[in-house]
Amino acid sequence: MLADRRIVLGVTGGIAAYKAVEVCRRLVDAGAHVTPVLTAGALRFVGRTTFDALASERAETSLWDEEHPIPHTRLARTAEAVVVAPATARLIAAYRIGLSDDLLSAALIATEAPVVICPAMHTEMWEHVAVQENLRVLAERGVTIVPPEEGRLAGGDVGKGRLAEPETIVRVVADLFAPKDMEGLHVLVTAGGTREPIDPVRFIGNRSSGRQGLALASEAVSRGAKVTLVTAAAPPEQPTMEVVPVETAAEMEAAVLERAEGCDVIVMAAAVADFRPAVVSADKIKKERGVPVVELEATPDILANLGSSKKPGQTLVGFAAETFDLRSNAAEKLHRKGADFIVANDVSVPGVGFEHDTNQVVILSAEGTHVETEHTSKREIARTVFDTIMAARAGNQ
Ligand code: CTP
Repeated sequence: MLADRRIVLGVTGGIAAYKAVEVCRRLVDAGAHVTPVLTAGALRFVGRTTFDALASERAETSLWDEEHPIPHTRLARTAEAVVVAPATARLIAAYRIGLSDDLLSAALIATEAPVVICPAMHTEMWEHVAVQENLRVLAERGVTIVPPEEGRLAGGDVGKGRLAEPETIVRVVADLFAPKDMEGLHVLVTAGGTREPIDPVRFIGNRSSGRQGLALASEAVSRGAKVTLVTAAAPPEQPTMEVVPVETAAEMEAAVLERAEGCDVIVMAAAVADFRPAVVSADKIKKERGVPVVELEATPDILANLGSSKKPGQTLVGFAAETFDLRSNAAEKLHRKGADFIVANDVSVPGVGFEHDTNQVVILSAEGTHVETEHTSKREIARTVFDTIMAARAGNQ
C-alpha cells in the first residue's frame, strides 16, 4: 500500500526523535519515497546524516538554505501524506493556529495531503487542556492523531506521553492508502466485556479488553465504512468512529437493536456476560451481614436475537471464545445463533484472545467454509475477518 507513495516525515525536537529513524526505515522498507523534514529542535536530538542515509531524499531542515527557493510549497504539493513523529506541543499548537515559523509548519499549512500527527511529550504536557484542545480541533479538521502510549519518558519518568511504536505509526500511514472496499457500508462492532452489577461497587465481569473489537472497528474505518462501536471497554482516544459506551448486557442489547436495522454488517466481538445477578442491591452489601448468596439469571442473547430478525443483505458475525473442541463448539454456535460467520479462538492457548495484542482464529461460515489465520496481531485478524466477509458479500450479489 505504501509502494512509491511520497511521504514527508516531519521530525520535531523531543527525546523520541531517535524513534523517527525507525519510522523512516520502515516507511522506506515498505516502498515509500520518504523526504525527512527536521526542525531545529529535532537537530539537537538526532543528526541529519542519519536521515540522509536512510531516506529517499536528503533531509530538509530550513526554509532558507535548501536548493529549491520555496521548499515548503514543493514539499506540500508533492506529498501524498505528511507524518509528524514525534510531534511536540509547540508544533501541534503552531499547526492548530496556522503559524508557519519553520519549514515543517509551513509545509503543514501549505499541504492538501492527509496529515498524521504522532504526539510525544511529558505526561503533564500531554494532559494539559491546551494540548488536548489543539488535538481535538486538528482531529475535527480531519487530521489523524496517533495517541502516545504509557511508558518511560525522558529523565526516567514513567507515564503517558511516549511516542507510539514505529510499527503502529507506519500502519496508520499505510491505512491512508488502503483500498476503500467498504465505502457505503454501515458496520456495527461490539467490544469489551460487559459488567453486571451486584451492588453499586461490585460487578460480575470477564477478561475481555476490547482490543479485538477496536481493531475490527479501526480496520472497517480504514476501508471506508461508516462504523459504530458499541463498547463496554474504555472508549478509544480521538476515535475515528461513532462510539456508544455501555456497561451491561442489557445496555449493549438496547444500543445494538436500536441501530441494527440500518447496518449492513454486525460483528459481535464483545464478551457479553451470560449471567447477571437477578437482583441488584441499591446499597453496598455490608460484610457484617455475612457472605451473600447472589442468585443469577440469564442475560439476553444479543447475537441470537439479531440472527432471528436478520435483514436481507445483512451479514451477521459472532465470536466464540472456547477452551476445548474449538471447531465443533463454534459450528454449533454458528447454527444456534443464526450467524453468517463465527470467528472462533481457543483462549486457552498462550497469547490468544483475552488481554493479548495477538490472536489466532478460525472463521467458520454458514456455508460450511473455513479460513484459518496465523498467530498474529489483532489488526491482522480484523483484516482477514473483513476480507472473508467482503468476499462472501461479493459472491452473494
Ligand atoms: N453473545 C451475545 N449475547 C450473550 C452472549 C453471547 O450476543 N448474552 C455473543 C457474543 O458476543 C459472541 C457469541 O455470542 O459473538 C458467542 O459468545 P460465547 O460467550 O462464546 O457463547 P455463548 O452463547 O455464551 O456460549 P457458551 O458461553 O456456553 O460457550
